[in-house]
Amino acid sequence: MTELKNDRFLRALLREPVDVTPVWMMRQAGRYLPEYRATRSQAGDFLSLCKNKELACEVTIQPLERYELDAAILFSDILTIPDAMGLGLYFETGEGPKFKKIIRTEADVAALPVPDSAKDLDYVMNAVKEIRRELNGRVPLIGFSGSPWTLATYMVEGGSSKDFRHIKEMMYATPEVMHALLDKLAQSVTDYLNQQILSGAQAVQIFDTWGGVLSGPMYQEFSLRYMQQIISGLIREHEGRKVPVIMFTKNGGQWLETMAEAGADALGLDWTTNIDDARARVGNSVALQGNMDPSVLYASPERIRQEVGDILGRFGAGSGHVFNLGHGIHQFVDPERPKAFVDAVHELSAQYHK
Ligand code: CP3
Repeated sequence: MTELKNDRFLRALLREPVDVTPVWMMRQAGRYLPEYRATRSQAGDFLSLCKNKELACEVTIQPLERYELDAAILFSDILTIPDAMGLGLYFETGEGPKFKKIIRTEADVAALPVPDSAKDLDYVMNAVKEIRRELNGRVPLIGFSGSPWTLATYMVEGGSSKDFRHIKEMMYATPEVMHALLDKLAQSVTDYLNQQILSGAQAVQIFDTWGGVLSGPMYQEFSLRYMQQIISGLIREHEGRKVPVIMFTKNGGQWLETMAEAGADALGLDWTTNIDDARARVGNSVALQGNMDPSVLYASPERIRQEVGDILGRFGAGSGHVFNLGHGIHQFVDPERPKAFVDAVHELSAQYHK
Protein backbone atom coordinates (compact mmCIF):
# COMPACT_ATOMS: atom_id res chain seq x y z
CA MET A 1 0.00 0.00 0.00
CA THR A 2 1.51 3.36 -1.05
CA GLU A 3 1.48 6.09 1.55
CA LEU A 4 -0.79 9.06 0.83
CA LYS A 5 1.38 12.17 0.41
CA ASN A 6 -1.48 14.67 0.58
CA ASP A 7 -4.43 13.63 2.74
CA ARG A 8 -5.92 17.02 3.60
CA PHE A 9 -9.04 16.25 1.55
CA LEU A 10 -9.78 13.10 3.60
CA ARG A 11 -8.90 14.88 6.85
CA ALA A 12 -11.20 17.84 6.16
CA LEU A 13 -14.10 15.49 5.35
CA LEU A 14 -13.63 13.95 8.80
CA ARG A 15 -13.25 17.44 10.37
CA GLU A 16 -9.65 16.71 11.42
CA PRO A 17 -7.07 19.53 11.45
CA VAL A 18 -5.47 20.55 8.13
CA ASP A 19 -2.77 23.07 7.11
CA VAL A 20 -4.88 24.72 4.39
CA THR A 21 -8.39 24.13 3.02
CA PRO A 22 -8.38 21.33 0.41
CA VAL A 23 -9.94 21.98 -3.01
CA TRP A 24 -11.14 20.06 -6.06
CA MET A 25 -13.70 20.86 -8.77
CA MET A 26 -16.75 18.86 -9.74
CA ARG A 27 -16.32 17.76 -13.40
CA GLN A 28 -12.66 18.77 -13.22
CA ALA A 29 -11.83 16.45 -16.12
CA GLY A 30 -13.83 17.56 -19.11
CA ARG A 31 -14.44 19.54 -22.23
CA TYR A 32 -13.00 22.87 -21.02
CA LEU A 33 -9.54 21.22 -21.24
CA PRO A 34 -8.07 20.96 -24.78
CA GLU A 35 -6.05 17.91 -23.67
CA TYR A 36 -9.33 16.21 -22.63
CA ARG A 37 -10.85 16.85 -26.06
CA ALA A 38 -7.73 15.41 -27.70
CA THR A 39 -7.87 12.20 -25.60
CA ARG A 40 -11.61 11.85 -26.20
CA SER A 41 -11.14 12.03 -29.95
CA GLN A 42 -8.36 9.46 -29.66
CA ALA A 43 -10.87 7.18 -27.85
CA GLY A 44 -13.53 7.90 -30.51
CA ASP A 45 -16.36 9.00 -28.21
CA PHE A 46 -17.19 9.64 -24.56
CA LEU A 47 -18.33 6.10 -23.67
CA SER A 48 -15.31 4.48 -25.31
CA LEU A 49 -13.18 6.86 -23.23
CA CYS A 50 -14.92 5.68 -20.03
CA LYS A 51 -14.36 2.04 -21.04
CA ASN A 52 -10.64 2.36 -21.79
CA LYS A 53 -8.77 2.23 -18.47
CA GLU A 54 -5.53 3.80 -19.75
CA LEU A 55 -7.34 6.74 -21.38
CA ALA A 56 -9.82 7.15 -18.48
CA CYS A 57 -6.79 7.29 -16.18
CA GLU A 58 -5.08 9.83 -18.44
CA VAL A 59 -8.02 12.26 -18.37
CA THR A 60 -8.48 11.80 -14.61
CA ILE A 61 -4.91 13.00 -14.08
CA GLN A 62 -4.96 15.85 -16.66
CA PRO A 63 -6.43 18.53 -14.35
CA LEU A 64 -3.91 17.57 -11.62
CA GLU A 65 -1.07 18.41 -14.00
CA ARG A 66 -2.42 21.94 -14.43
CA TYR A 67 -3.67 22.79 -10.93
CA GLU A 68 -2.67 21.96 -7.33
CA LEU A 69 -5.84 19.98 -6.68
CA ASP A 70 -6.16 17.97 -3.45
CA ALA A 71 -8.20 15.10 -4.90
CA ALA A 72 -8.70 13.21 -8.15
CA ILE A 73 -12.15 12.02 -9.25
CA LEU A 74 -12.64 8.84 -11.24
CA PHE A 75 -13.39 9.61 -14.87
CA SER A 76 -16.70 7.93 -15.63
CA ASP A 77 -20.38 8.86 -15.58
CA ILE A 78 -23.38 8.34 -13.31
CA LEU A 79 -25.29 6.69 -16.17
CA THR A 80 -23.05 3.59 -16.25
CA ILE A 81 -25.53 1.82 -13.91
CA PRO A 82 -28.64 2.18 -16.11
CA ASP A 83 -26.43 1.23 -19.06
CA ALA A 84 -25.41 -1.97 -17.19
CA MET A 85 -29.13 -2.61 -16.54
CA GLY A 86 -29.50 -2.93 -20.32
CA LEU A 87 -31.00 0.48 -21.21
CA GLY A 88 -28.50 1.27 -23.97
CA LEU A 89 -26.91 4.61 -23.08
CA TYR A 90 -25.82 6.84 -25.94
CA PHE A 91 -24.95 10.49 -26.40
CA GLU A 92 -26.31 12.65 -29.17
CA THR A 93 -24.11 15.67 -29.82
CA GLY A 94 -25.56 18.78 -28.23
CA GLU A 95 -28.47 16.87 -26.68
CA GLY A 96 -26.85 15.08 -23.76
CA PRO A 97 -27.45 11.49 -22.65
CA LYS A 98 -30.21 9.30 -24.09
CA PHE A 99 -31.46 5.72 -23.57
CA LYS A 100 -32.66 3.26 -26.20
CA LYS A 101 -35.01 1.66 -23.66
CA ILE A 102 -37.17 3.86 -21.39
CA ILE A 103 -38.72 2.76 -18.06
CA ARG A 104 -42.40 3.70 -17.64
CA THR A 105 -44.43 0.75 -16.34
CA GLU A 106 -44.51 -1.77 -13.50
CA ALA A 107 -43.47 -4.47 -15.98
CA ASP A 108 -40.50 -2.37 -17.15
CA VAL A 109 -39.32 -2.05 -13.54
CA ALA A 110 -39.89 -5.74 -12.75
CA ALA A 111 -37.76 -6.76 -15.76
CA LEU A 112 -34.77 -4.63 -14.68
CA PRO A 113 -31.79 -6.58 -13.33
CA VAL A 114 -29.63 -5.39 -10.41
CA PRO A 115 -26.17 -5.41 -12.00
CA ASP A 116 -23.28 -7.33 -10.46
CA SER A 117 -20.83 -4.41 -10.47
CA ALA A 118 -17.65 -6.48 -10.16
CA LYS A 119 -18.58 -8.22 -13.42
CA ASP A 120 -20.99 -5.98 -15.36
CA LEU A 121 -19.13 -2.76 -14.52
CA ASP A 122 -15.64 -4.23 -14.42
CA TYR A 123 -14.39 -1.48 -16.76
CA VAL A 124 -15.10 1.07 -14.01
CA MET A 125 -13.27 -1.01 -11.39
CA ASN A 126 -10.32 -1.46 -13.78
CA ALA A 127 -10.15 2.30 -14.26
CA VAL A 128 -10.17 2.83 -10.45
CA LYS A 129 -7.25 0.39 -10.03
CA GLU A 130 -5.31 1.93 -12.90
CA ILE A 131 -5.79 5.49 -11.54
CA ARG A 132 -4.70 4.47 -8.03
CA ARG A 133 -1.54 2.92 -9.48
CA GLU A 134 -0.79 6.00 -11.55
CA LEU A 135 -1.55 8.48 -8.71
CA ASN A 136 0.94 6.61 -6.55
CA GLY A 137 -0.26 8.31 -3.36
CA ARG A 138 -0.16 11.86 -4.77
CA VAL A 139 -3.75 12.70 -3.71
CA PRO A 140 -6.79 10.58 -2.76
CA LEU A 141 -9.13 9.20 -5.43
CA ILE A 142 -12.88 9.92 -5.22
CA GLY A 143 -15.35 7.33 -6.49
CA PHE A 144 -18.93 8.31 -7.25
CA SER A 145 -22.43 7.36 -8.24
CA GLY A 146 -25.70 9.09 -9.01
CA SER A 147 -28.45 8.93 -6.37
CA PRO A 148 -31.31 6.53 -7.11
CA TRP A 149 -33.70 9.45 -7.69
CA THR A 150 -31.31 11.20 -10.09
CA LEU A 151 -30.61 8.00 -12.04
CA ALA A 152 -34.35 7.28 -12.20
CA THR A 153 -35.04 10.71 -13.77
CA TYR A 154 -32.85 9.80 -16.76
CA MET A 155 -34.27 6.26 -17.01
CA VAL A 156 -37.93 7.34 -16.89
CA GLU A 157 -37.59 10.52 -18.97
CA GLY A 158 -35.26 8.81 -21.46
CA GLY A 159 -32.63 11.53 -21.06
CA SER A 160 -32.30 15.03 -19.62
CA SER A 161 -35.52 16.83 -18.71
CA LYS A 162 -36.76 20.29 -17.83
CA ASP A 163 -40.15 19.51 -16.29
CA PHE A 164 -39.72 15.85 -15.12
CA ARG A 165 -43.19 15.12 -16.43
CA HIS A 166 -42.99 11.34 -16.66
CA ILE A 167 -41.13 10.63 -13.44
CA LYS A 168 -43.39 12.94 -11.43
CA GLU A 169 -46.40 11.21 -12.95
CA MET A 170 -44.95 7.86 -11.85
CA MET A 171 -44.20 9.22 -8.37
CA TYR A 172 -47.67 10.65 -7.74
CA ALA A 173 -49.84 8.24 -9.75
CA THR A 174 -48.08 4.93 -9.04
CA PRO A 175 -45.82 5.48 -6.02
CA GLU A 176 -45.33 1.72 -5.50
CA VAL A 177 -43.78 1.42 -8.98
CA MET A 178 -41.54 4.41 -8.23
CA HIS A 179 -40.43 2.80 -4.96
CA ALA A 180 -39.72 -0.54 -6.65
CA LEU A 181 -37.46 1.22 -9.18
CA LEU A 182 -35.67 3.28 -6.51
CA ASP A 183 -35.12 0.20 -4.36
CA LYS A 184 -33.47 -1.66 -7.26
CA LEU A 185 -31.31 1.38 -7.92
CA ALA A 186 -30.34 1.70 -4.25
CA GLN A 187 -29.20 -1.94 -4.23
CA SER A 188 -27.27 -1.38 -7.46
CA VAL A 189 -25.60 1.82 -6.22
CA THR A 190 -24.59 0.24 -2.89
CA ASP A 191 -22.83 -2.62 -4.66
CA TYR A 192 -21.31 -0.27 -7.26
CA LEU A 193 -19.81 2.07 -4.64
CA ASN A 194 -18.59 -0.82 -2.48
CA GLN A 195 -16.82 -2.33 -5.49
CA GLN A 196 -15.22 1.06 -6.22
CA ILE A 197 -14.03 1.23 -2.60
CA LEU A 198 -12.63 -2.32 -2.77
CA SER A 199 -10.89 -1.37 -6.03
CA GLY A 200 -9.24 1.67 -4.39
CA ALA A 201 -11.63 4.66 -4.16
CA GLN A 202 -10.69 6.50 -0.92
CA ALA A 203 -13.87 8.61 -0.60
CA VAL A 204 -17.19 8.47 -2.43
CA GLN A 205 -19.67 11.09 -3.53
CA ILE A 206 -23.35 10.56 -4.27
CA PHE A 207 -24.55 13.06 -6.91
CA ASP A 208 -28.21 13.92 -6.36
CA THR A 209 -28.41 16.46 -9.13
CA TRP A 210 -32.21 16.43 -9.32
CA GLY A 211 -33.35 15.91 -5.70
CA GLY A 212 -33.94 19.66 -5.54
CA VAL A 213 -36.86 19.53 -7.99
CA LEU A 214 -38.96 17.78 -5.33
CA SER A 215 -41.10 19.19 -2.51
CA GLY A 216 -39.68 18.68 0.99
CA PRO A 217 -41.79 15.62 1.90
CA MET A 218 -41.26 14.04 -1.55
CA TYR A 219 -37.50 14.66 -1.29
CA GLN A 220 -37.42 12.74 1.99
CA GLU A 221 -39.54 9.87 0.71
CA PHE A 222 -38.14 9.46 -2.81
CA SER A 223 -34.57 10.69 -2.70
CA LEU A 224 -33.05 11.10 0.78
CA ARG A 225 -34.42 7.81 2.11
CA TYR A 226 -32.65 5.82 -0.63
CA MET A 227 -29.36 7.67 -0.18
CA GLN A 228 -29.62 6.86 3.51
CA GLN A 229 -30.21 3.19 2.64
CA ILE A 230 -27.08 3.24 0.45
CA ILE A 231 -24.91 4.95 3.06
CA SER A 232 -25.90 2.41 5.71
CA GLY A 233 -24.71 -0.38 3.39
CA LEU A 234 -21.35 1.11 2.44
CA ILE A 235 -17.91 -0.12 3.48
CA ARG A 236 -16.76 2.72 5.75
CA GLU A 237 -13.17 1.65 6.35
CA HIS A 238 -10.64 0.24 3.89
CA GLU A 239 -6.83 -0.02 3.73
CA GLY A 240 -6.77 1.03 7.40
CA ARG A 241 -8.49 4.37 6.78
CA LYS A 242 -12.01 5.73 6.99
CA VAL A 243 -13.73 6.10 3.61
CA PRO A 244 -15.72 9.36 3.88
CA VAL A 245 -19.06 9.74 2.11
CA ILE A 246 -20.18 13.05 0.54
CA MET A 247 -23.84 13.59 -0.27
CA PHE A 248 -24.62 16.35 -2.76
CA THR A 249 -28.21 17.36 -3.45
CA LYS A 250 -28.23 20.29 -5.83
CA ASN A 251 -30.82 22.85 -4.70
CA GLY A 252 -31.15 21.02 -1.39
CA GLY A 253 -30.05 23.94 0.82
CA GLN A 254 -33.43 24.22 2.53
CA TRP A 255 -33.14 20.66 3.92
CA LEU A 256 -29.63 20.68 5.40
CA GLU A 257 -30.69 19.73 8.94
CA THR A 258 -32.46 16.58 7.71
CA MET A 259 -29.68 15.75 5.25
CA ALA A 260 -27.12 16.00 8.05
CA GLU A 261 -28.80 13.04 9.76
CA ALA A 262 -28.53 10.68 6.78
CA GLY A 263 -25.15 9.26 7.81
CA ALA A 264 -22.87 11.09 5.33
CA ASP A 265 -19.60 12.60 6.57
CA ALA A 266 -20.02 15.69 4.40
CA LEU A 267 -22.74 17.56 2.54
CA GLY A 268 -22.15 19.21 -0.82
CA LEU A 269 -23.56 22.72 -1.17
CA ASP A 270 -24.49 24.55 -4.34
CA TRP A 271 -23.99 28.33 -4.45
CA THR A 272 -27.54 29.30 -3.51
CA THR A 273 -26.93 28.73 0.23
CA ASN A 274 -24.56 30.94 2.23
CA ILE A 275 -21.92 28.67 3.70
CA ASP A 276 -21.88 30.57 7.01
CA ASP A 277 -25.62 29.91 7.44
CA ALA A 278 -25.11 26.29 6.41
CA ARG A 279 -22.34 25.82 8.97
CA ALA A 280 -24.46 27.35 11.73
CA ARG A 281 -27.32 25.01 10.80
CA VAL A 282 -25.39 21.71 10.68
CA GLY A 283 -23.00 22.54 13.53
CA ASN A 284 -20.38 19.88 14.07
CA SER A 285 -22.43 17.01 12.69
CA VAL A 286 -20.95 16.99 9.16
CA ALA A 287 -18.28 18.66 7.01
CA LEU A 288 -19.34 20.95 4.14
CA GLN A 289 -18.15 20.93 0.53
CA GLY A 290 -18.57 23.88 -1.81
CA ASN A 291 -19.75 26.33 -2.85
CA MET A 292 -18.53 28.91 -5.38
CA ASP A 293 -20.82 29.63 -8.32
CA PRO A 294 -19.02 27.97 -11.30
CA SER A 295 -19.73 31.10 -13.36
CA VAL A 296 -17.25 33.07 -11.22
CA LEU A 297 -14.60 31.26 -13.31
CA TYR A 298 -15.58 33.52 -16.23
CA ALA A 299 -14.29 36.52 -14.24
CA SER A 300 -10.77 37.92 -13.79
CA PRO A 301 -8.24 36.21 -11.48
CA GLU A 302 -8.71 39.14 -9.04
CA ARG A 303 -12.48 38.69 -8.95
CA ILE A 304 -12.07 34.91 -8.50
CA ARG A 305 -9.68 35.50 -5.61
CA GLN A 306 -12.11 37.90 -3.97
CA GLU A 307 -14.94 35.37 -4.18
CA VAL A 308 -12.74 32.61 -2.72
CA GLY A 309 -11.76 34.95 0.14
CA ASP A 310 -15.41 35.72 0.84
CA ILE A 311 -16.42 32.05 1.04
CA LEU A 312 -13.41 31.14 3.22
CA GLY A 313 -14.23 34.04 5.57
CA ARG A 314 -17.86 32.96 5.80
CA PHE A 315 -16.90 29.39 6.72
CA GLY A 316 -14.44 30.82 9.23
CA ALA A 317 -11.83 29.12 11.38
CA GLY A 318 -11.31 25.40 11.78
CA SER A 319 -11.49 22.25 9.70
CA GLY A 320 -14.53 20.67 8.05
CA HIS A 321 -14.53 22.58 4.76
CA VAL A 322 -13.60 21.15 1.36
CA PHE A 323 -13.59 23.96 -1.17
CA ASN A 324 -15.36 23.22 -4.45
CA LEU A 325 -17.64 24.77 -7.03
CA GLY A 326 -21.36 24.63 -6.33
CA HIS A 327 -21.79 22.42 -9.43
CA GLY A 328 -19.66 21.17 -12.32
CA ILE A 329 -17.20 23.44 -14.12
CA HIS A 330 -18.66 24.83 -17.38
CA GLN A 331 -17.24 23.73 -20.71
CA PHE A 332 -16.55 27.32 -21.89
CA VAL A 333 -14.26 28.28 -18.98
CA ASP A 334 -10.77 29.42 -19.98
CA PRO A 335 -8.46 26.66 -18.66
CA GLU A 336 -6.13 29.33 -17.20
CA ARG A 337 -8.80 30.53 -14.73
CA PRO A 338 -9.07 27.49 -12.41
CA LYS A 339 -5.41 28.05 -11.48
CA ALA A 340 -6.31 31.38 -9.86
CA PHE A 341 -9.16 29.64 -8.06
CA VAL A 342 -7.16 26.69 -6.67
CA ASP A 343 -4.15 28.79 -5.68
CA ALA A 344 -6.35 31.37 -3.95
CA VAL A 345 -7.98 28.64 -1.81
CA HIS A 346 -4.59 27.45 -0.57
CA GLU A 347 -3.06 30.91 -0.10
CA LEU A 348 -6.02 32.58 1.60
CA SER A 349 -7.05 29.67 3.84
CA ALA A 350 -3.86 29.14 5.90
CA GLN A 351 -4.98 31.89 8.32
CA TYR A 352 -8.07 29.84 9.27
CA HIS A 353 -6.05 26.76 10.26
CA LYS A 354 -3.63 28.06 12.89
O1 CP3 B 1 -16.01 15.21 -12.11
C1 CP3 B 1 -15.34 14.61 -12.97
O2 CP3 B 1 -14.38 15.15 -13.58
C2 CP3 B 1 -15.61 13.13 -13.20
C3 CP3 B 1 -16.42 12.80 -14.31
C4 CP3 B 1 -17.93 12.97 -14.32
C5 CP3 B 1 -18.62 13.03 -15.55
N1 CP3 B 1 -19.96 13.01 -15.30
C6 CP3 B 1 -17.98 13.07 -16.87
C7 CP3 B 1 -18.75 13.52 -18.03
C8 CP3 B 1 -18.90 12.98 -13.31
C9 CP3 B 1 -18.69 12.99 -11.81
C10 CP3 B 1 -20.18 12.99 -13.95
C11 CP3 B 1 -21.45 12.95 -13.21
C12 CP3 B 1 -22.72 13.17 -13.92
N2 CP3 B 1 -23.09 12.73 -15.17
C13 CP3 B 1 -23.84 13.81 -13.35
C14 CP3 B 1 -23.92 14.32 -11.94
C15 CP3 B 1 -23.16 15.58 -11.74
C16 CP3 B 1 -23.79 16.78 -12.36
O3 CP3 B 1 -23.11 17.39 -13.19
O4 CP3 B 1 -24.89 17.13 -11.96
C17 CP3 B 1 -24.86 13.81 -14.30
C18 CP3 B 1 -26.24 14.42 -14.14
C19 CP3 B 1 -24.40 13.10 -15.45
C20 CP3 B 1 -25.13 12.76 -16.70
C21 CP3 B 1 -24.46 13.36 -17.86
N3 CP3 B 1 -23.33 12.83 -18.45
C22 CP3 B 1 -24.73 14.59 -18.49
C23 CP3 B 1 -25.91 15.49 -18.17
C24 CP3 B 1 -23.72 14.79 -19.45
C25 CP3 B 1 -23.50 16.00 -20.31
C26 CP3 B 1 -24.09 15.87 -21.66
C27 CP3 B 1 -23.69 17.07 -22.52
O5 CP3 B 1 -23.45 16.81 -23.69
O6 CP3 B 1 -23.57 18.18 -22.00
C28 CP3 B 1 -22.87 13.69 -19.42
C29 CP3 B 1 -21.66 13.47 -20.23
C30 CP3 B 1 -20.37 13.71 -19.55
N4 CP3 B 1 -20.04 13.15 -18.36
C31 CP3 B 1 -19.28 14.48 -20.02
C32 CP3 B 1 -18.26 14.35 -19.08
C33 CP3 B 1 -16.87 14.93 -19.15
C34 CP3 B 1 -19.24 15.24 -21.34
C35 CP3 B 1 -19.07 14.23 -22.43
C36 CP3 B 1 -18.21 14.73 -23.56
O7 CP3 B 1 -16.98 14.58 -23.46
O8 CP3 B 1 -18.76 15.23 -24.53
